[in-house]
Amino acid sequence: MLSASILAAFQHQFHYSPLLVRAPGRVNLIGEHTDYNEGFVLPAAIDKEICFAVGLNQTDTIRLYSFDKQELYTTAAAQVQRGNTLWANYLLGVVAQFQKRGITVPGFDCVFGGNVPMGAGLSSSAAVECGLAFALDHLLGTQLDRMTLAHMAQKAEHEFALVQCGLMDQFASLFGRQGQVVRLDCRSLEYEYFPFDTSRCHIVLCNSGVKHSLASSEYNTRRQECEQGVAVLRQHYPQIGSLRDVTLAQLQQHAAELDAVVLRRCRYVVEENLRVEAACQELAAGNLPAFGQQMYASHAGLRDDYEVSCPELDTLVELARPLPGVYGARMMGGGFGGCTINLVEVDHVEEFTRRMQQLYQQATGIPLETYQTTIVAGVSELPTVALT
Ligand code: GLA
Repeated sequence: MLSASILAAFQHQFHYSPLLVRAPGRVNLIGEHTDYNEGFVLPAAIDKEICFAVGLNQTDTIRLYSFDKQELYTTAAAQVQRGNTLWANYLLGVVAQFQKRGITVPGFDCVFGGNVPMGAGLSSSAAVECGLAFALDHLLGTQLDRMTLAHMAQKAEHEFALVQCGLMDQFASLFGRQGQVVRLDCRSLEYEYFPFDTSRCHIVLCNSGVKHSLASSEYNTRRQECEQGVAVLRQHYPQIGSLRDVTLAQLQQHAAELDAVVLRRCRYVVEENLRVEAACQELAAGNLPAFGQQMYASHAGLRDDYEVSCPELDTLVELARPLPGVYGARMMGGGFGGCTINLVEVDHVEEFTRRMQQLYQQATGIPLETYQTTIVAGVSELPTVALT
């Protein structure tokens, strides 16, 4: 068991008992690239998790150990800064957020590792940030609420990983609920849970095997393009604060004033927000075929208007579409690689994964990894007693 291995590694290295925490990765059913435009998302936490063993060590030194890389990183607690060790930056970024709030972070030890595949669009980085934020909050007794922790984890990503991400991934990791997806209004931060019936339909992820290396620079560019669109429209409608406030009619009316690329980016976001609303109604009504159609439309928008897909992701969606029992498929997360999310009728899941593996290998020469996921609760503490 993952948590037992992490605990054992901690005790082996540091010889005392830590706090044990798990932090899940996420899927997003629909609502992509809408979070930083103050729109809607529909994520869920999944059973791909990072596990942490963390303890205060009564020194001035922070010792971080990556169980998966078998690497140790140490730094003075008072001198936390971004460095060249990429995996450590996610953790250091979180420490810096506590410090920015005026909280003194003493020396601590942290061993972490997990089974969230990296670069697969399942938000391993958010899981890393949220898990440590939760653990430090606990150990330091700061009693920050989960929304505050999510914002701190997001800031860690902005300032130490240099990705200007929205709040979705960190929110999903901290607010997930077993068996439920959650719609977040990224402006008001109101959220609503919707049951997801896994006796009818499973969430199957197909990993394109393409690591999204372009993702962070292109991601930040997309964000700027959206802001450019808002700046133009605001000249006409001063009440517009973000693309959330923009209608398709307004976009059409001022199309000529917008750069063609910016227009497409904006159109995608406005349409995607409408799709999330529609998809939630369909989910609540149990209409999975209609929900799946929204997913296909989302993919088309991401591919053609937002241009964050890649040929391998497009191939995966097209291969899935005609297979029996498939309700919907689309690329998921930031894009340029990573996974597609597929909703597949329970009885067809086995055949689906077998066929997809064959077809994808034939089409691209890349072996396909698939993950069947279940929807789990957000970040939590784990008991250590049963494991020792
Ligand atoms: C990444 C970001 C999220 C979100 C998605 C796209 O996962 O971290 O904030 O913007 O991309 O929906």
